[in-house]
Amino acid sequence: MVAIAGEDLHGVHEGYGQTWAKAILMGEHSVVYGHPALALPLHDLQMRAWAQPIASDQEPQLSALDYEGPLSESGELFGGLRRAVEVTLDFLGHSDQRFSIRTESDFPAGRGLGSSAAASGAVVRALLDAYDVRASHEQLLELTNQAEKITHGHPSGLDAATTSGELPVELERGAMRTVQLRGNGYLVIADTGVAGSTREAVEGVRSRLEAKPEVVEQLLESLGDQARSAIGNLETGQMEPLGASMNQAQELLNALQVGHAQLDALVSAARSAGALGAKLTGGGLGGCMLALAANESDAQRISEALLAAGAQEVWTHHMVA
Ligand code: PMV
Repeated sequence: MVAIAGEDLHGVHEGYGQTWAKAILMGEHSVVYGHPALALPLHDLQMRAWAQPIASDQEPQLSALDYEGPLSESGELFGGLRRAVEVTLDFLGHSDQRFSIRTESDFPAGRGLGSSAAASGAVVRALLDAYDVRASHEQLLELTNQAEKITHGHPSGLDAATTSGELPVELERGAMRTVQLRGNGYLVIADTGVAGSTREAVEGVRSRLEAKPEVVEQLLESLGDQARSAIGNLETGQMEPLGASMNQAQELLNALQVGHAQLDALVSAARSAGALGAKLTGGGLGGCMLALAANESDAQRISEALLAAGAQEVWTHHMVA
């Protein structure tokens, strides 16, 4: 319990919330046009948030990424996070209570790993915890998605669901379902260190679709087919065909012009080191890639190859039933 001199806190105390990163395994870009996508929660890459109640004459502060200062002056990058504070306090009926917010993350922002949804989700949970209030799963998603609307305009909801959920999530035409994995594999995720803009990538695909509809529709269709078969392979535990689908998807995404030379370099390093498949993940034009490894020692070898090929950071995720 944090005491504030001279103020009656009505039982409010410092709150804590935790979420994690996500990675899109298959279906980025084609999901925008109604095909399925699958995203995985990466439970080891955590986002932690603390909400500290402060007196009504104090200025709420934010400490997040490399920002340290008044919450109200934290700029566009933190617009979603500020919205998360606002909607959660409204939900709690405590809009007048002020909080300072601190977040800490195990993974970088702006690389397609779901940092904005994870931060908003963790802040929502920290504020609820400050009042010892438990919200339903739907309420938590709704509050996080309110914040995501500021960051992404029209969020699909996939990031909010996977950065706080236990299971992989499939999204198709706005409908989400959790997917039960069979079998065993390792995903090695690597950051190119290049910031790719998802908005720019999505707009680029749209303008190419308008310019050459037959060609681009066919690419999107094929990406959708690969995502569909990959999801089937995950559910039956067939890792080799899953890897083959990932390789196919990478070619198709390059044909859509959302690739990047550094992504190609990492993808080919992973394949040479024995990956079953490798592709970019998320919007592309930089950001992260992921590789599928059959076992832990392959994953280790692939990680080393990725670092040697210039990856800024590498993480390994054990996919297990
Ligand atoms: O870069 P991310 O992880 O936000 O993923 C973008 C996925 C896209 O399919 C390219 C866009 C979208 O809104 O689904």
